[in-house]
Amino acid sequence: MIRKTLLVAFAMLTLAACSKDVPEVDDYDPARDYFTFANTEQFVTDHLALDLDVDFEERVLRGYAMLTMRRLDETATEVILDSRDLDVASAAILMGENSAPARFHFGETDELLGTPLIVTLPPETGESFVLVLEYATSPDSTALQWLPPELTAGGKQPMVFSQSQSIHARSWVPSQDTPALRITYEATIRTPRNLLAVMSADNNPLAARTGEYRFEMPQPIPSYLIAIAVGNFYFAPLGEDTGIYTEPELLDESVYEFADTQAMLETAESMFGPYEWGRYDLLVLPPSFPYGGMENPRLSFLTPSLLAGDRSLVAVVAHELAHSWSGNLVTNRTWRDIWLNEGVTSYIESRLMEVIYDVERANEERVLGYRELLDNFERVPENMQALAPRMTREAGEDAQGTIPYYKGQLLLEFLEAAFGREEFDEFLNDYFETFAWQTITTETFLAYLDQKLLSTEGAPLTRASVEPWLYEPGLPANAPVPVSSSLDASAAASSDWSSGTMATADIPIDVWSAQAVIHFLNSLPQDLAHEKLADLDAVHAFSETRNAEIARAWFIQVAARRYTPAYPQLEAHLNRFGRGRLIAPVYQALAENGEDLSLAREMFERAKPSYHPLVVMWISRGLDDAPG
Ligand code: BES
Ligand code: ZN
Repeated sequence: MIRKTLLVAFAMLTLAACSKDVPEVDDYDPARDYFTFANTEQFVTDHLALDLDVDFEERVLRGYAMLTMRRLDETATEVILDSRDLDVASAAILMGENSAPARFHFGETDELLGTPLIVTLPPETGESFVLVLEYATSPDSTALQWLPPELTAGGKQPMVFSQSQSIHARSWVPSQDTPALRITYEATIRTPRNLLAVMSADNNPLAARTGEYRFEMPQPIPSYLIAIAVGNFYFAPLGEDTGIYTEPELLDESVYEFADTQAMLETAESMFGPYEWGRYDLLVLPPSFPYGGMENPRLSFLTPSLLAGDRSLVAVVAHELAHSWSGNLVTNRTWRDIWLNEGVTSYIESRLMEVIYDVERANEERVLGYRELLDNFERVPENMQALAPRMTREAGEDAQGTIPYYKGQLLLEFLEAAFGREEFDEFLNDYFETFAWQTITTETFLAYLDQKLLSTEGAPLTRASVEPWLYEPGLPANAPVPVSSSLDASAAASSDWSSGTMATADIPIDVWSAQAVIHFLNSLPQDLAHEKLADLDAVHAFSETRNAEIARAWFIQVAARRYTPAYPQLEAHLNRFGRGRLIAPVYQALAENGEDLSLAREMFERAKPSYHPLVVMWISRGLDDAPG
């Protein structure tokens, strides 16, 4: 089942597999997080203090996590935390001036969820207490990638960065690792003296490189937004409240590429209400960063594959910024509701692109997203196509691919079209204000939508027209269909050129947007002769493109059609990038072309040492499960 497995690599794979105690359909509780061991009805965490040494020799973080907790159920005597591959040396309870050692043990390990860490509270423990854990991470922590100098831009200093979403915070912080709860945090991080630590917190652009860094995150956030990176990072400002951290080798390029960030921030505030987080900075990481971007609050982490040189891929920045409202301010209660994060964010992303660039640019990206959505419907099993599916055991490895993104976005566009932009914007503003700092379910969203829009006098839509989006597969018949005239033109060129009515040199690639080029490639017909591909590559040099998304689209075609003359460049692509989205579908196309599964495996073995542990997991599952 390589299709399913590689597909989900793009968004949610880490959650997808079955959890032992996801119940049969009838007991399904949509408000419960089935991806945590934490006994959150009995205890909650309000604050986390970390004190960690960053040890590049051993590839571990070592020190203390101090959890300020409250007991909600007075009969409860055991705190159950999430952990994965953590080495816990001691546990103690602090109450005021007093401290007492606490007994702890690990429960049974679940391959997907990690290992419950069970702490028995001493009898004198009160209602509020601080649980102090002395611990170290494992070199195989699923959240952390430890990079040797060779895998960085500078090649001289090591680096480490985290990726906690969805359920990997537990592999570096023992915690109640569920989006249902929010905590504030502070941290002291000790590093080698010449390196800089940054976190999803109050980074100081002027921080002296002392090797000891203090952070505070005073706004309460879910655990999946706790983030750290340590490396040879330098800062450059982009605007008043925005800037970039990256290695010095990438600083100038990054400043050019992301120059519109300040404008994006100001536009977003004017449209969706105040930005609640202080500064907004970007951290540009090495190519092995597994995602396009990650919305760590105050400091979005980004792949360097966005550095196309022409700002053509910056929608990802608009996306991560938009999460400052949808996701970070109003958060999905459980991973089943992830569309509330990703779908609402994709909608805002697209609205920002309209303002910062123009409607045509936004429409191009809408059409590409819509195409991807239709592809996803072909591959994702029906029971996972609802925006709010039942995360049952049978769902197994099948997560939702990018359905929560583009189907969620389309639902909001559907609502906007029905109620009008002005009224819908007002709704969104109220929604962010009402649910700020909360974590909510799809049902909470629906009830609010119903109250504010659907059941108002003369409303153009009813609840019954929204429910199918949330609970049924595919798209309702009255779903909007995005259109872009420039993409229509590039699809037409694709067919004219394929059928021989347009000469290769006449394809107006130089005047097209990157999105139009991608659409041209995606629209090539099944039966295209190798000579045509050879000609196309000779004239337009796709194998050498600097644009990572164009390269992705091209090498998918190359692999699917077994155009072997471009295999050396295809392999170079697989070695150049470690972002799952850019490489998983290329491996998939190789594995599925009927001939090249073993070649795909060989290429993977060669490239693997540079990949992030999560990406290694995704791709090896896909290739292991491949037929043949
Ligand atoms: N929050 C996601 C990344 C993520 C999702 C990590 C689920 C782990 C589990 C991030 O905001 C994201 O969506 N990134 C996209 C960018 C995009 C759709 C513009 C990516 O990485 O491709
Ligand atoms: Zn996102």
